[in-house]
Amino acid sequence: MTAVEQNPLLEGLRLRRRPDPCILVIFGASGDLTAKKLIPALYSLAYRHLLPEKFGIIGAARTEESHDEFRERMKQAVKDHARDPFDDEVWSALATGMRYTTLDFADDKGEDELRDTLNELDRDLGTQGNRVYYFAVPPSAIGTLVGEIAQRRGAEGWVRLIIEKPFGHDLSSARELTAEIQQHFAENEVFRIDHYLGKETVQNMLALRFANGIFEPIWNRQFIDHVQITVAESIGIEGRAGYYEQAGAIRDIFQNHLLQLVALTAMEPPIDFTADSVRNEKVKVLKALHTPGPKHVVRGQYGPGFVEGEEVRGYREEEGVAPGSMTETFVAAKLYVDNWRWADTPFYVRMGKRLARRETTIAIQFKRAPHPPFDDGGEGLRPNVLLVHVQPNEGVSLAIGAKVPGQGMTIRTVHMDFLYGGAFREGLPDAYERLILDAMLGDATLFTRSDEIEEQWALVDAIIAFWQRDRPSFPNYPAGTWGPAASDDLLHRDGRSWRRH
Ligand code: NDP
Ligand code: BG6
Repeated sequence: MTAVEQNPLLEGLRLRRRPDPCILVIFGASGDLTAKKLIPALYSLAYRHLLPEKFGIIGAARTEESHDEFRERMKQAVKDHARDPFDDEVWSALATGMRYTTLDFADDKGEDELRDTLNELDRDLGTQGNRVYYFAVPPSAIGTLVGEIAQRRGAEGWVRLIIEKPFGHDLSSARELTAEIQQHFAENEVFRIDHYLGKETVQNMLALRFANGIFEPIWNRQFIDHVQITVAESIGIEGRAGYYEQAGAIRDIFQNHLLQLVALTAMEPPIDFTADSVRNEKVKVLKALHTPGPKHVVRGQYGPGFVEGEEVRGYREEEGVAPGSMTETFVAAKLYVDNWRWADTPFYVRMGKRLARRETTIAIQFKRAPHPPFDDGGEGLRPNVLLVHVQPNEGVSLAIGAKVPGQGMTIRTVHMDFLYGGAFREGLPDAYERLILDAMLGDATLFTRSDEIEEQWALVDAIIAFWQRDRPSFPNYPAGTWGPAASDDLLHRDGRSWRRH
């Protein structure tokens, strides 16, 4: 048996149809995402024989680069960032079908060259006119490009567009972008990517809820006191000031990754696991989502501090950031889902850069036991918490009260843990591996639909409107902490606190 056959996770993928021959065009090929995520993910797919046998990659960006320079840079990116060991044979096979085109979205000169390279690769590799266009570029650049692609669309083969988040800059620009895309492409050709949906642990939220009978009866306002979702990063903006100064934390992560985690936690069971059924249920949650008012949303920006023992500069000192920048790097909010299942159950969410450590968790805190009949009045007894560790240390743990061995009846909280690392032998695939493959196969279940995105923007636009009214004093949290004091107050006011770290 080969390593691929022995592995249950890979076995699952292998049993799926292999995608049709195709060419993947990456717009934004000189950027951070291409080097750190996309090419390493493609390499890992190649390493597992999951890519089509006839397959090409074209990188496109403004930066001038020859085919060879691009291949060399991507080779290094694979060595630095891929989860699999570097294998010359796998790399050579992938690099043979790799090209680079210099292209500025502002003029259409480069697009003709791109079309010629595509046709040439079709002839050399036998890719039959099938195209996946990956837009790893700022949202403002996408509309024009889509029109150029449509104009040059050939008669043969299928086309799929993978569009990175954030989709638009606000609700009206997202609607405009959707309208522009819909002029040329059908909804089933458009894949709006939110890579959190490709994470194994995020999908496991669905498995946990809908493959186990024990959770559904208690997954509601009667048994759950509140939900806490944290998306904490210890890294800063990693040289992406140009992008981040425009986006800020609310558009970079809150609008997409974080609200998708809320939707998956709160959604009703879908009737099946098809793209429309899953997305129909998520959009209902997003429609019902609101924040009770400005004082329930907190924004922050990091100042200098220490992260994991290392001294780091403040946001305003980062290269490319304006010295008086008012861009937020932290957001916390109290949200409600106004429906029968969740009415009056707060969802406290927070996300930020340069926090104390990297941690993405979804914590479901249940109501206290009504009457602990123990001598100490159940002092050591804390409410049960179901904790989904999205990353790192992927797994699920349930906090329960247990008796401390010995005399008397002293209770302490202990954890029942399921850790991916312990239960499955293989490391988890990167989200981009799963999602790129799904798009090639035309499966949109783990991609967001335009109505979901619009509901996400509606909430974010309302929050940004609150923010026009005042000017906080930034920076308001030192790097390496858990955010501004106001984030703690948000919960203290309700007699609750963020989970202890
Ligand atoms: P970068 O700023 O590193 O890269 C942007 C890319 O877009 C560059 O290759 C740039 O090329 C290209 N570009 C910008 N304007 C033009 C233009 N007018 N013509 C041609 N090319 C252009 O951004 P990232 O790679 O970090 O992010 C790209 C997208 O991916 C963003 O939407 C982001 O939200 C998303 N994303 C990023 C993640 C990450 O970890 N980096 C993770 C998840 C999503 P050049 O300068 O050579 O023209
Ligand atoms: C991206 C954001 O969408 O997600 C980045 O643009 C962020 O700012 C990244 O660092 C986090 O992804 P992950 O998978 O490392 O949690």
